[in-house]
This record gives sequence, C-alpha cells and structure tokens, in this order.
Amino acid sequence: MSHSKESDELVFFVNGRKVIERNPDPEVNLLFYLRKNHILFVFQLTGTKYGCGGGDCGACTVMISRYDPISKKICHFSVTACLVPICSLYGVAVTTVEGVGSIKTRIHPVQERIAKGHGTQCGFCTPGMVMSIYTLLRNHPEPSTEQLMETLGGNLCRCTGYRPIVESGKSFSPSSSCCQMNKEGKCCLDQEENEPEKKANVCTKLYEKEEFQPFDPTQEFIFPPELMRIAEEPQKKVLTFHGERTTWIAPGTLNDLLRLKMKYPEAPLVMGNTSVGPAMKFKEVFHPVILSPARILKLFIVTNTKEGLTVGAGLSLAQVKDILADVIRKLPEEKTQLYRALLKHLKTLAGQQIRNMASLGGHIISRLSNSDLNPILGVGNCVLNVASIEGTQQIPLNDHFLAGTTDANLKPEQVLVSVFIPVSKKWEFVSAFRQAPRQQNALATVNAGMSVIFKDGTNTVVDLNILYGGVGPTTVSASKSCQQLIGRCWDEGMLSDARRLVLDEITLPVSAPGGMVEFRRTLMISFLFKFYLDVLQQLKMRDPSGYPDISKKFLSVLEDFPLTIPHGIQSYKCVDPQQPPQDPVGRPIMHQSGIKHATGEAVFCDDMPAFPEELFLAVVTSTRPHAKLISIDASEALALPGVVDVITARDVPGDNGSEEERLYAQDEVICVGQIICTVAADSYAHAKQAARKVKIAYQDMEPVIVSIQDAIKHQSFIGPEKKLEQGNIEEAFQSVDQIIEGEVHFGGQEHFYMETQSVLVVPKAEDKEMDIYVSSQDAALTQEMVAYALDIPKNRINCHVKRVGGAFGGKAGKPALLAAVAAVAANKTGHPIRFILERGDDMLITGGRHPLRGKYKVGFMNNGKIEAADIECHINGGCTPDDSELVIEYALLKLENAYKIPNLRVRGRACKTNLPSNTAFRGFGFPQGAFVTEAWMTAVAAKCHLPPEKVRELNMYKTIDRTIHKQEFDPKNLIRCWEKCMENSSYYLRKKAAEEFNQQNYWKKRGIAIIPMKFSVGYPKTFFYQAAALVHIYTDGSVLVAHGGVELGQGINTKMLQVASRELKIPMSYIHLGEMNTVTVPNTVATAASTGADVNGKAVQNACQTLRRRLEPIISKSPHGSWKDWVNEAFTQSISLSATGYFRGYEANIDWEKGEGDIFPYFVFGAACSEVEIDCLTGAHKNIRTDIVMDASFSINPAVDIGQVEGAFTQGLGLYTLEELKYSPDGVLYTRGPRQYKIPSITDIPEKLHVSLLTPTQNPIAIYSSKGLGESGMFLGSSVFFAITDAVAAARKERGLAPTLIMNSPATPEQIRMACVDQFTDLIPQIDSTCCKPWSIPVA
Ligand SMILES: Cc1cc2nc3c(=O)[nH]c(=O)nc-3n(C[C@H](O)[C@H](O)[C@H](O)COP(=O)(O)OP(=O)(O)OC[C@H]3O[C@@H](n4cnc5c(N)ncnc54)[C@H](O)[C@@H]3O)c2cc1C
Ligand code: FES
Ligand code: FES
Repeated sequence: MSHSKESDELVFFVNGRKVIERNPDPEVNLLFYLRKNHILFVFQLTGTKYGCGGGDCGACTVMISRYDPISKKICHFSVTACLVPICSLYGVAVTTVEGVGSIKTRIHPVQERIAKGHGTQCGFCTPGMVMSIYTLLRNHPEPSTEQLMETLGGNLCRCTGYRPIVESGKSFSPSSSCCQMNKEGKCCLDQEENEPEKKANVCTKLYEKEEFQPFDPTQEFIFPPELMRIAEEPQKKVLTFHGERTTWIAPGTLNDLLRLKMKYPEAPLVMGNTSVGPAMKFKEVFHPVILSPARILKLFIVTNTKEGLTVGAGLSLAQVKDILADVIRKLPEEKTQLYRALLKHLKTLAGQQIRNMASLGGHIISRLSNSDLNPILGVGNCVLNVASIEGTQQIPLNDHFLAGTTDANLKPEQVLVSVFIPVSKKWEFVSAFRQAPRQQNALATVNAGMSVIFKDGTNTVVDLNILYGGVGPTTVSASKSCQQLIGRCWDEGMLSDARRLVLDEITLPVSAPGGMVEFRRTLMISFLFKFYLDVLQQLKMRDPSGYPDISKKFLSVLEDFPLTIPHGIQSYKCVDPQQPPQDPVGRPIMHQSGIKHATGEAVFCDDMPAFPEELFLAVVTSTRPHAKLISIDASEALALPGVVDVITARDVPGDNGSEEERLYAQDEVICVGQIICTVAADSYAHAKQAARKVKIAYQDMEPVIVSIQDAIKHQSFIGPEKKLEQGNIEEAFQSVDQIIEGEVHFGGQEHFYMETQSVLVVPKAEDKEMDIYVSSQDAALTQEMVAYALDIPKNRINCHVKRVGGAFGGKAGKPALLAAVAAVAANKTGHPIRFILERGDDMLITGGRHPLRGKYKVGFMNNGKIEAADIECHINGGCTPDDSELVIEYALLKLENAYKIPNLRVRGRACKTNLPSNTAFRGFGFPQGAFVTEAWMTAVAAKCHLPPEKVRELNMYKTIDRTIHKQEFDPKNLIRCWEKCMENSSYYLRKKAAEEFNQQNYWKKRGIAIIPMKFSVGYPKTFFYQAAALVHIYTDGSVLVAHGGVELGQGINTKMLQVASRELKIPMSYIHLGEMNTVTVPNTVATAASTGADVNGKAVQNACQTLRRRLEPIISKSPHGSWKDWVNEAFTQSISLSATGYFRGYEANIDWEKGEGDIFPYFVFGAACSEVEIDCLTGAHKNIRTDIVMDASFSINPAVDIGQVEGAFTQGLGLYTLEELKYSPDGVLYTRGPRQYKIPSITDIPEKLHVSLLTPTQNPIAIYSSKGLGESGMFLGSSVFFAITDAVAAARKERGLAPTLIMNSPATPEQIRMACVDQFTDLIPQIDSTCCKPWSIPVA
C-alpha cells in the first residue's frame, strides 16, 4: 500500500503482535488484509475465510477487543472481517483463529471440541464458528444455551446441519448435560420415547466428552497495555489515512467531527460499516472521503431519566439490546412497552456479528426500507438529538423523517448524537412484528411497529400509529388510516375498518421490487390483527370484566416461535467387542482434517501463498439472455492501473469449449451470466474495476426462453424424451374408483458451497507444463478441458486437489470450465492466474439444481390403492446440456420412490432455456422426481379421506420385486426403516397430540408426516465406477496413501485411512494421505453419486492387500517383529513397497429402448418423520422434531455417515422449505448472495433431531458391506415439507376449505400463508400479472 499523500500511522494488534500500517487504504477490509498481507513477517492469516463479502455468512468472523475508557473494561466482540475497513482498527486488538490456538503450539478447547464433536466436514465455515464461540466464551465463560443460539445465528454451515456444532458449543454451558426440552425441565434423554436407543449393542456416543481438555477461562488473552494508553489519550488528534482513491478521517472529538462534516457534507460517517460497506461493494457506491466517528466518546453515552432513555448514536445494536434488557428488568411492565418491542426484534435482527458492529445511529440514518427498528422507534415518538457546527437540534423520529422528507431530515452537515427513547405511557401499547424468509439473520419481508394510546381507563383510541417496513422504498406509514380510527373503540368493528383502510392507503404495484405482492399485503393486515389481539388481551388483563373473553384458541398466535437450542440423539451399532482396538473400521473416527479445520491451518485453494508475478482474474458476464455479440471494447479497462490484459474467445489456442458450451462467449450469448471475457490485473480490486469498464455491444435475439412453459411452447429441448413404462395404464385407468390430475412445481436450488469456485493456474517454464490447483470434484475433467483449450496433451497438466470447501455436485463440471478460462489467461499472459469467484458471480454463472414441473394423472381405488399413474416431468436445464439429460433420466428412474405402482408410465424431458446452465446437485434428480410422487400420494390420501401414512404403507414395495426399470431388489430394509421410524418417532401418539393441539389452536397448526425412501446409488455405466489408488510404504514404516477420490468434506480421506489401517493391520497414525492429483492417480472419475468411498475404498483395499501379501512371508517368519522391521526386511529383500490398487467398477447398464437395466449396485433405504408448527397468519413455521432411520448397512465410520445424513437432511430441508431462487422475466437471477438467498441457519433445524442407523445387514457388493450415504438424506428433508402440508391442510379443513391442496416446493412463508386462506387473504385481490411485467417469474 503506497499512496502519495502523507498518512498517519494506523496502529493495532493482530494476535498479540503490534501492527503499524503507514499507508492504510480505506477501501481495504480486514478480511482481505489478513489473508493477503504479511503481518510483521508472519505469513498470511488465511484461517479467516471469504464466503460472501457482505457480512451474511460468518466465515470471516474474528474477535475485536477494545478498551472502553468510560467503563475501564475491555470489551470483546465478534465481527465479520469482510465489512471491517482496516482504518477503523486504530487502537484495537484483533484475534483471528490462528491466535486462538494452533497445532504447532496448543489448540484451544473450542477448536478441540468442534473437531472431536464432528462439527466440521469441509471445514470452510469452521474457523468462523470457532471465533464466534470463542468470543462468546471471552464474555461469558459459562454461556447459556440462548446466548449460544444468538451467537451462532450469524454463521452459516452448508455441510453439517449444525447439530454437532451446537453440541460442541453446548459443552461449555452449565446446563449442557440436560437438554431441558420438555416443560418439566426433564432431559429428553430420560424420556421413554428414546428407549429403543438404549438397547444393547446400540451406541449413542460419537465422541467421548470426557476426553475434552478442560476450559480455563482465566487463561490467555493479554490486552496490549499500549492500546489502553491510546484509548485513554486525552488529546485525541484527528487521524487521516489516504488510500488510492479514498481518504479516511477519524476525528477524536465531537467538535472536530462537526467541523469535518461541515467541510465534507457528502462524506458518510462510517460506524459499523454494515450499510455503507455493502453499498460500496455491491452497488458500486464510491466515497472519496469517509469520516469515522468511532473514537468520539460523546456518541456512546447512555442516560436514563424517568422520561426515558437517551442512547448514544454510536452504541452498537448489541449494546442497545443489553441496555434495553437491563432497563426492562428494572422498570414496571407498563412503562416498557416500547423497549420490549425493540428488544424482540434486536434478538433476531441480522446475526450476532452484525449486531456487534452496526450502530443505532447508522441503523436509523441508513433508513433501510425493511429496517426492523425504525418502524418501532417511529411509532414510539422517539427523538433524534442532532448537532452541527451551528448548534444542536431535536428532530422527531416520525414517519416524515423515515420517508426522507427534506424538512424532517438531518441536514448534510448534521450528525446524530443520540436518540431519546421514551418510557411508555400508562395507556399506551406498542407491538412489533416481522416475517422474514428465515427466523434469524434475514431481512424482513414485511415488518411493522404499531402503537396505540387509549383514553385513560377506556378502550377509546386517542392516538394510533402504524409503520410498515418492506412494502415500499422507505418505511411506510398508515397515517391516514390511523387518523380515521381515532375516537373508535378497540373492537371488531374498528379492526374490520382498519384492515380496509390500511389496504386502501398502502398499495403495492404488481411489479413492485421484491415481488410477493399478495403475501406482503396479507402480512400487513395479519400483523394488524395480531396487534388487535395483543392489545385486547392486555386491556382485558387490566380490566377482566370490562372486555369480552378472547378465545384461548386465538391467543397462542401472539407468541413468536422461540429460538430454541436443537439437540439430538444419534444411534448406531457398536463395533463388535472382539474387534482389535487398533482396527478403526466401524468406529466414529474424527475427520482427518478436523483439527486443522478448527485452527485454520487446513489450506484451501485461495489460502495458497501468492506465486511470483501472479495475476488476478475478474469476469465480464453477459447482461442479456440471448443476443448477438457485436463488439467488446476493452480500451478503457486496459488503460486502468494494474491491468495486464483482457482475454476473450480469440485468445483460446485450442477448443473454446464445445459448440454447446463455450469457455468464452463467441458470436452470441445465451444467458445472463455467461462469461464474455476476463480481465487480468495485479490485484483483484484492479481487475474488478477494469471489468466494469469493458463495454459490450449486443444485438438482442429472439426467442428468450426463461421458464419450462416457454421452452415447451418453443419446443426447445436438450435431448429426446425419455420414457419408462410398466403394466398397462390405459386399461388400468378404466377400472379405478377415482382419478386425479394435476401438476406440481419444484424450484431450483443453489449449491451454496461455502468455498466459492476457486482455481489457481501456474504455468511452468518448460514444455508447456501447468499446475492447476482447483477446488473440484473432478480433477481429470479439469485436466482434460484445460488440455483441450490450450491444445496440449493432458500429460503436461497436473491438477491438484487438496480439499474442497463443499461441492454438492456444483464442483463436478463447472470447475473444469472455469479452470480452462483461467488457463487461457495464464497461457496468454504467461503469469500464474488466481481465479476466485465472488459469491455473486458464482451464483450467477454456475447454475444449480434443476427446477422441475411434474404433471400427474393417478388412478386409485377408494381404499387408497394406486393402480395407475401417468407422470410427465420437465426440468429447466438452462442454456447448455451439462448433465441435464442424465438428471431427467435419474428423476424418471427413481421417481417411483418406495412404491409399487403396477401400471406406471413416467416420461420426461430436459428443457433448453436462456438461464445459466443447471448442473449436478446432491441427489441428482431424485429429490425432484420422488417429490412429485409424494405430492400425488398425499393428494390421493386426501381424496380417499385416509391418513397419508396409510396410503404410503399400502402402496409400498413389500416383497422382493422389480423396479420400474426392472431391476430386482429386496425391500426388507425399506420396511424395517419405516417401522423403526414409526416406532422411534412415536408416530401415532404424536399425530394424536398434534390433532389435539390443532383443536385448541386456531391460528397455529401442527402437522406431522412420515416419508419412506428407496434411493438407488450410483451411475448408469460401469466405467464411471472405476477407481484407483497408489500406496507406498516407506522404510521408516510410514505409509502414504493416494486415491482418486476428492475430499469434499464428506470424510472420504478419513474412511480411506480406516480402510488402509485395517488392511495393512497398522494404526491409522502410521498412514498419511496427501493431496489428490492427476499425476499420482490418472484418469479418475468425479467423486460423486455417493460412491466415492465405495469405489476408492476398494482400490485402496486392493493396493493394501497386494502389499500385505508381499509382506506376509516376512511376517510369518517373524510374527513378533514390528511393522518397521518387516518393512525394512522387505526392502533388503528387494520387495517392492509400492502398489497400485484398482477397482473396475460395478456392473451397470440401462437400455432406454426397452426401459430396463440393472443400473444400480444397491439401494439405500430410509424413512423420516417430521413434525412442524405453522403460524397461519404469517406463514412462519417451526421444525419441532425429526426422526430419521437410515439403512447404512455396515457403517465404516458412523460419525461421518451420520454427519452425511444430518447434513443432507438439512440441505433438503432448505430445498423443500426455504431456498428460493428468483429470476426476472428476462432471466436475470436476483438471488445472488446469502442476503437474498436463505440456506438453513442454526435456527432452522428441528429442535429435536434423532438419527439412527439401522442395525447392519449385508451389502456384499460394497466394501465391508457398507453403503454410500452422501446424497440420500437430501430427500428426507421432504418430510418437513409434507408435515407443513399436513398443518396447512388442518387449517384449511377448519376453515371449511378443500384440503387437497398441492403445494409447490419450496414451502416458503409466502406459500404457507397464502395456502391458509382466511378472511385476510380474501381481502387481497389476486394480482393480474398479464397487465404488466411482474418483478419475478417462476421458472419451473
Ligand atoms: C448481514 C446484514 C444483515 C442485516 N440484517 C438486518 C436485519 O435483519 N434487520 C435490519 O433492520 N437491518 C439489518 N441489517 C442492516 C443493519 O441494521 C444496518 O446496516 C446497520 O444498522 C447500519 O449501522 P452501521 O453503524 O453499520 O451504519 P454505517 O454503515 O456505518 O452507516 C450507515 C449510514 O448512517 C450514517 N450515519 C451513521 N452514524 C451516523 C451518525 N451518528 N450521524 C449521522 N449519520 C450517521 C452514515 O453516514 C451512513 O450513511 C443488516 C445488515 C447486514 C450487513
Ligand atoms: S465473508 Fe464475511 S460474512 Fe461472509
Ligand atoms: S463444514 Fe460447515 S460449510 Fe462445510
């Protein structure tokens, strides 16, 4: 960092070391700084990860410690480093995961417990998790479970399903030995329902807590005394830091700040940077000057008088939360109406890190349209105390201010000093409401603050205020409606008028940004109803005889779903007591890299140190869905500092991909997001700035096909229709009692691997050799595409994959394309190229799971027996073939799920559209296809007035039979899973309890569903299953294993070590497993389809057995010798100590002409039962409990396998209930980051999650009779969807509506709310989207 103007020195500490930065750049954030700088000769601190860059994922969490000169205390708080400008760090101490503990020195108990508790899979989120828990422990050595939940709400994990992470954290809390789940405070573990788990030979421990090192909170962390001196400095001088484009000025006093604000009225005051930072990053807002008031003590003062609280504008939202909680404890309840409303939202607003960073002043002033606090502050008559060089002023925080009206606003030179938040008056009532796509860490879809003041002792309204967020560009007031209701009594008549008035006053056009127009309008009046009830209840409490009784049935809806801590039981068969203790097979061994994940020492692709003269690549992508490329003008970009080159299709020396899928767009673009060119520069910032300057001229082309419907209209397909058929459906339809017909839509899914697509290409000096370091499931494909693109033989390219930070199918094909794009740039420039996609680009470019539309015609008898089904499916494949044909084939092959439908026809086709190409995703068609079946199964049950589980049971395979593709199988374990799941979940008891609950609650309903699963594992061709391994024994006895599988977090390397250990009969500690690369094991196939450990295990076994055979004569001669002796003896006898292992693959074939084939080596069976509770007024739901029974046959590693089941289930839960991709009518993906796209967070998993592995049976075809469990659990997430359907059906039934409602997936709050039709939804006219362009359209 060197800039011409003189800057002050920026002084801060990182992990106990003092850093003096002489030329800090205000545009550089802490995440980038830690990862890319050498801090005092310490290597880059790459433990802190990039996951999103916007504060939403928590991967970059670090701890900041600051000395507070007022309280004389050291405060520790977690922050997201991606939003912390380094210039804001003056005088603070930063602790990163490397500073917490390391393998080289000593690991911290947090790191140990998260690793040993199996809380890490790919490990990419783990350092962030560690830092969140570590910071919590710094502040609360014995945290409550509630604190733990709040702490982890801002950290996303895509692999584990959170349960083991929570457990690791819980081990520090005093109440951790008991889950305290049930009302009597009894532990679930003591309940009878869990008796089956206590049976002999069934283990429920995946690790030994007793082995954890004790946590001593008094140890460590020495706050640098120098920083205390800095904080106490009486003369606080103005600090100025000049960057390349921006100047940062940090005054030390309010007067200095006011003077500066006068001089730079347009400069933002950056406090938490959680609003300014994302705007700069994502909206390209540029500020030449930034003012930082963080050192001004006057902004952090709190005063408490009998009129109310005056809270310094600089205080963080987390501090405000604590202040409010404290005041609420001390004041009489009636005075704290406003405070309680604020506190309620402060618990779920963003995640902990953002609450720690964001200031009250920043929150108010940024006036987000769906700000959670502003509507409440606004209805609570709060006042802003502002100051400028000219003096002070008080501005009411009212609807005018929130709407940004000029005369009610701060002047540019004014600064918000504090906010007055009054105590509530005796007859004042305040409530707050919000409905978000996710309970925690999600901006509200709609929120509201509502207050009413009554004439003393009456229910006559004298003042009423209603403010909504999320229904307009600013917080919106229903002031006219409120005016008209003054003088009215608080009764049903008033409510009825209020609803009508509010709907008339606040309208939303069909094309309103954010869409969901009907839902948002419904929420407005649903909240109003909740407010009405809430106030009525309080009035009645004050005067029980003065008001009519409120039915208890209604009142439960006033309680929001609590943030409860999840817990679970995992059970599996213990290993045979006779098994030698050193044999690790069957034991829950910790992930091989677990500790390294937790210390941040595990190296991911972008953690690799910079290569000399390395360049960074940024992409320019198409903004048009279908257009001719007229020109690419890169002149302006090339003139920018640091830019080395712009690379286009013309620079590809070999094949520019295929005709169907180009590396760089050539002549035309076929989707928004297609790569047109790349810019190579000396830093990513320079590359990105230049990429924005590349001008592309397009000529739009017709047609533009976005949805399946469009594709069918234009007959735009990828490949021919595929069909499977059994029996005679036409005849069968003649003889059935009933027939239903319908269609169901299934949205796509974003992989959201925490590590974005990453590749590093390093050209070598000789013979056109290249090293490619890539985050890929398929190294060989990467090698191939690079070789073809550069027109050189494959033998010059070595692809290395050390580990992958989550993949889920999304890193099977796409990394090859991206690596080829980077390799072309490396080839042209002669420099190493680092190509790491930002989250937004990753989501835009790489596609995801295929959306599907299923049409069904089903014939059945009145007893629920299904005789015939005719199913037609279409998937949205996007703009290139990718794996779409295979995906639709798999969807059809597996669509029948667990059911024998005697007369069944399934047909399907992949549609070619102008969306980014969809690709492989965990489950590969099965989660979509089987969902269609379960949807009509549910519909049949409703038609027959039968419980869905009865219809499922009746139609399930019962005896040895053939699938629709005529493969024979035995469903014995399917039935066992089903029955055990019924038993474990106490299904009928709980169903009855849910029914009773539903009778007692009108606005809240519970639903329960049990879903069986038959998942066929594998690929349709034998050669896909081949695998190879290379095992070396060195003369010191150490062993090196290499195999063709990739460690994606699924624990394949751990399992391979277990296999090698058993086969060689040596402890695992003797064996090392390095990176996977294409030199050691050539011609590999993708690690996918749940078969990685199966096939590579066989190859490793084969190599080890060869070696063991060679050693056998030596061992038998000296049976009491040591391993090292035997190995040395072998060496002296010239016996090779290196062997390759090979597995040629399972037999697999399919003849699509005949529609038959033995494709799959084996089936995984399972069942899941889920229970949910829904809020019919908001569409929110709570996952109460899930029981899963999975047939793992013999588990090589129960911790890994259960981790896969839980992780996949959680990803499935996201798929079916949360994750929603939104596209514009022109095919532009809106949901390009965790801000808009919500994967499950810690609050979304069931409160109780029980997983048990069926007692082992035989699966002789696979290694040690095991089964691959990577994908199957995904589908079990659908049990939550069908539990929601059940709850919705209960609501509809009570309201006299037809229960046979087919819901589309995902069952988002919008879907749930709008399905629970009632007097509120009836008031919302259906929008006519033909009159104008809607904001988004469904693509399924
Ligand atoms: C990941 C994430 C999740 C979020 N989730 C939610 C959510 O669920 N609900 C919700 O309501 N909000 C949410 N937010 C928004 C968040 O609440 C605001 O960004 C935050 O409160 C802004 O405060 P800040 O201190 O970071 O502001 P900054 O970004 O530092 O500043 C914002 C603006 O305020 C001005 N400003 C700051 N202080 C003063 C002052 N004293 N006087 C005058 N002007 C001032 C600045 O000039 C600037 O224009 C989220 C944000 C992020 C990043
Ligand atoms: S990278 Fe910082 S929160 Fe995601
Ligand atoms: S382990 Fe959490 S994202 Fe992979």
